[in-house]
Amino acid sequence: MGQARLVRVAVAVAAAARRLSAAGVPSPRADAELLAAHVLGVPRGRLALAGGLAPDALARFEQLVAARADRVPLQHLTGTAGFGRLELAVGPGAFVPRPETELLAQWAVGTGGAVVVDLASGTGALALAVAHELPAAQVLAVERSPAALAWLRRNAADRAAAGDRPVEVVAGDATDPAVLSDLDGTVDLVVCNPPYVPAGTPVPPEVADHDPPEAVFAGPDGLAVIRPVIVRAARLLRPGGWLGLEHHETHPPLLPRLLQPWFTRVTDHRDLVGRPRYVTGQRVAD
Ligand SMILES: C[S@@+](CC[C@H](N)C(=O)[O-])C[C@H]1O[C@@H](n2cnc3c(N)ncnc32)[C@H](O)[C@@H]1O
Repeated sequence: MGQARLVRVAVAVAAAARRLSAAGVPSPRADAELLAAHVLGVPRGRLALAGGLAPDALARFEQLVAARADRVPLQHLTGTAGFGRLELAVGPGAFVPRPETELLAQWAVGTGGAVVVDLASGTGALALAVAHELPAAQVLAVERSPAALAWLRRNAADRAAAGDRPVEVVAGDATDPAVLSDLDGTVDLVVCNPPYVPAGTPVPPEVADHDPPEAVFAGPDGLAVIRPVIVRAARLLRPGGWLGLEHHETHPPLLPRLLQPWFTRVTDHRDLVGRPRYVTGQRVAD
């Protein structure tokens, strides 16, 4: 009986993987397993030991697989996205944190700083990762989308309840000189993963239909937010402070000129598949 139930899970997952593959989902087997694990309330690695899918669980699983085949992001279906050592709540209205941004988070943690600002914070991935790894840091997160702010506040509250130093959430435009103007010239580290995809760039259905456009696209060259955010970061940072800024793979030739008035030691960093993904620079004195 127990063996038959285990086979049913394997069969359901295999059928789901075939369906997701036919729908063009990039990692069909992994997604099928993660959805089954989500329905059963077990870690993916323990799926084979979890017993079978009862009829109501099977119906729920098939519902989620159908949604994933319609290219609803996996993270919207499970309600969470892993980011470094954190699990963040995500859903409609917010940009799903990406694995490549974890590299910027790791750089930020290695750089350190007593006062850290995350501009365009989304669900709070960078701010909350830094707050988790640097318990002494005062971390502030700026976001302007009301929908994203709701997820950010929820994640910030969850992390504070889990024992991290609370991140201060600021509702506002990250490029507005009035936002956090009291911190001008005092910040040790600014991190920013802004919208940076050039308008008209083809993107997968998960992005086109579920990430908010204002979280992804930024004008014809993708620099519409990056340009003013660099100016804002330069104003916030103290001399010697650091900026870490994620960008599009077409941006490296353009960034040194934008950064040069305020930053030295400008270095570009590659992501997990070797594409240029984020730039860092150190604030010079005026
Ligand atoms: C690419 S998402 C990144 C979110 C988060 N930093 C992350 O890494 O997951 C960009 C975010 O910037 C926000 N945003 C866009 N323009 C903004 C602005 N001018 N001021 C504040 N937030 C902005 C969007 O709402 C979105 O949440």
